[in-house]
Amino acid sequence: MNAVEIKNLSKNFGAKQAVCGLNMTVPMGAIYGFIGENGSGKSTTEKMICGLIPTSGGSIKLYGKDHTDDAIRAKLGVLIEAPGCFPSLTVWDNMMLQATNLSIPHAEKEVIKILKTVRMEGAAGNKYKNCSLGMKQRVGIAMALLGNPTLLVLDEPLNGLDADGMRIMREVFTDIIKDGTRSIIVSSHLLGELQKVATHYGIIRHGKMIVEMTADELDASCRTFLALQTQNMDQAKLLLGTKFARVEEDEAGYLRVYDQTTPEEVVAFLYENGICVTEIKTDKIGLEEYYIDLMKGGK
Ligand SMILES: Nc1ncnc2c1ncn2[C@@H]1O[C@H](COP(=O)(O)OP(=O)(O)OP(=O)(O)O)[C@@H](O)[C@H]1O
Ligand SMILES: [Mg+2]
Repeated sequence: MNAVEIKNLSKNFGAKQAVCGLNMTVPMGAIYGFIGENGSGKSTTEKMICGLIPTSGGSIKLYGKDHTDDAIRAKLGVLIEAPGCFPSLTVWDNMMLQATNLSIPHAEKEVIKILKTVRMEGAAGNKYKNCSLGMKQRVGIAMALLGNPTLLVLDEPLNGLDADGMRIMREVFTDIIKDGTRSIIVSSHLLGELQKVATHYGIIRHGKMIVEMTADELDASCRTFLALQTQNMDQAKLLLGTKFARVEEDEAGYLRVYDQTTPEEVVAFLYENGICVTEIKTDKIGLEEYYIDLMKGGK
């Protein structure tokens, strides 16, 4: 059974189709990176999953049941936009207040455990308004974790974080799913932010899912190529173009050969035609580059 199964989902705001025919599958235990440019429909989809706004069509199943089922909704933890915290109260008091509102049993023990998970145990006495952005985001996740949800839906929790804030957040995500009972959907407009932490990816564009894949599949899609330099780049480019299907010059001034070939073959071919290779290496296009390629409509 999957944590989330969405079929043919749509959402219209008046004449605006924000989501159109979207399919999505989030396996149990996944950190699902939901990636798309600004305005592509990530938040709208997440709000529909959480039942915050009605759908205009299609179906959303959570753990095999309709997402409007009350028992299923109780399994959701949500952070969409800012958490509802009181700025002048401490992190601890905010958490305890919410725990009381939700009638969480053994609230103190639970809050201690959750603050540890989000790496906030040392900052529980800070007033919320004095927390850094990264800390505030983690308090939001802590709030979402109250009630022991099995599915967390987090809208752009990495937005605006510095490298250290991102690293801590990645650790938090990994910690949250480590016992295999929880899944997380994390949206982002940058694929690179989720690199190394997401186990699955879904890429949305203009309200449609354009591709879903596992982290391994995504990694494999990032093609390898040969990058080389010669003393006569223009001639080398022309020549390589007569033998290989895809030859391009990159921003760093290297010629890239994307075909299945070996450095030996390329060096020998150029040498036979009077061109000396001064440098050659095997490389792989990065996730960001792959994503930009996808967004342009290529693959
Ligand atoms: N309440 C609304 N009324 C009208 N249009 C809306 C509403 N909410 C979203 N939209 C439109 O739907 C589209 C998708 O918006 P959405 O917020 O889901 O995108 P997003 O992928 O979350 O973008 P971002 O990365 O900027 O957060 C946008 O064109 C947006 O303007
Ligand atoms: Mg959004």
